[in-house]
Amino acid sequence: MYKFVAFAVLAVILAPAVSATFWRNCLGVRGPDHIETPLCDAERCFAVRGQPFIANVTLSSPDVHQELLVENIAFIFGIPVQLPVEPPHDNGCNQLYVNGVFHGCPTLPDVPHIWMINQDIPGFLPAFQNTVVRYTLTDRGTLVGCVEITATLV
Ligand SMILES: *[C@@H]1O[C@H](CO)[C@@H](O)[C@H](O)[C@H]1NC(C)=O
Repeated sequence: MYKFVAFAVLAVILAPAVSATFWRNCLGVRGPDHIETPLCDAERCFAVRGQPFIANVTLSSPDVHQELLVENIAFIFGIPVQLPVEPPHDNGCNQLYVNGVFHGCPTLPDVPHIWMINQDIPGFLPAFQNTVVRYTLTDRGTLVGCVEITATLV
């Protein structure tokens, strides 16, 4: 009986953690703590070219970063296609907030930073459906962050 109750309680506690999120970490690279965006449901994201892509991405790291250069690759039918990211959106430092105040880089160790993404999606990008899109952050040549989402772009 106790065992059953304990299991039931555990199942309730774990349920949110095991429910699907639209984003996944990349193997061996730090991922975000959390992503908040109205463009995604539990499984995938839906965005429209010419309209803004908005997301609040919570990042924390024991390391201090000087730059967070953004690369964005869509695997269209499995073929990697680099999606250009225009300045100032090509460096996550330019939209990095701590406690609601712009902070930028260098980052603070072990402190949650919010990367507030708000950029128009260029009309010249290719449209795609249910495609894996990988975002990476690079600091002085070292890959320091990565996340993958499943997205449809129309
Ligand atoms: C991101 O956070 C800011 C500040 O809290 C808020 O105004 C904005 O609506 C959030 N955006 C998203 C996409 O959650």
